[in-house]
Amino acid sequence: MRTALVTGGTRGIGAAIAVALKDAGYRVAVNYAGNEEAAARFIDDTGIAAYRWSIADYDQCAEGVASVESALGPIDILVNNAGITRDVMFHKMTPEDWRAVVDVNLNGVFNMTHRVFANMRERKFGRIISISSINGQKGQMGQANYSAAKAGEIGFTKALAQEGARFGITVNAICPGYIATDMVMAVPEAVREKIIAQIPVGRLGEASEIARSVLFLASDDAGFVTGSTLTVNGGQYFV
Ligand code: CAA
Repeated sequence: MRTALVTGGTRGIGAAIAVALKDAGYRVAVNYAGNEEAAARFIDDTGIAAYRWSIADYDQCAEGVASVESALGPIDILVNNAGITRDVMFHKMTPEDWRAVVDVNLNGVFNMTHRVFANMRERKFGRIISISSINGQKGQMGQANYSAAKAGEIGFTKALAQEGARFGITVNAICPGYIATDMVMAVPEAVREKIIAQIPVGRLGEASEIARSVLFLASDDAGFVTGSTLTVNGGQYFV
């Protein structure tokens, strides 16, 4: 039985991924940053263990991963899902808005992957799956910080895929479009209506649709898929 860790796993896309992995027979743990209420509800509903730490902090990642591994065993599958937004037009964006988003969405990917990669090399198996975004592919007004970080995840994926290949480690990114989660619901309604009008499928995506993509990339069957970017956006943007 393989072990999976999902960051930002108590809500939204991360929770759907964690549950799908558990249902598919993986041993699963999730990480979360601070929403205790959501974490308590998630643990109650799913029985999946949730560990609190900030992925923006390298040392906390080291400790967090060590705790998960001592409970569940070495991590075979890392899903870098945790992410935040600080949407604001660039001329009003503060250095803090920039740094907060890059620290979590991009530096968090480094911090987490770095803690599991060496072990995966030794064990000759690994799956690194990073949840990037349509907005890392096409750019999005109001998201210079987020688009930069999400594009960074794609470059990271392509580079690390080349390093992992000889060791049975695949490294892939998924680029969700607009999915019905708290993050998208926080977009002003009038703007959200405009966005939905740009999606040919005519609706927001479901978190479970991203989870099913993760299941494929995590599987042994996907061993030849590495360095790829899987676009799951209802036809809103083609790369
Ligand atoms: N798509 C289409 N039009 C958009 C847009 C978008 N994503 N974002 C902003 N606009 C438009 C607005 O509708 C508005 O148009 P009009 O002047 O014609 O009315 C114009 O841009 C300016 O927007 P605001 O009046 O809202 O300006 P503001 O300064 O008050 O706020 C903003 C700017 C913070 C960027 C706000 O518009 C906003 O939050 N936009 C959404 C940005 C976005 O798409 N974020 C994605 C969040 S979900 C996510 O990040 C998950 C993921 O990976 C996809």
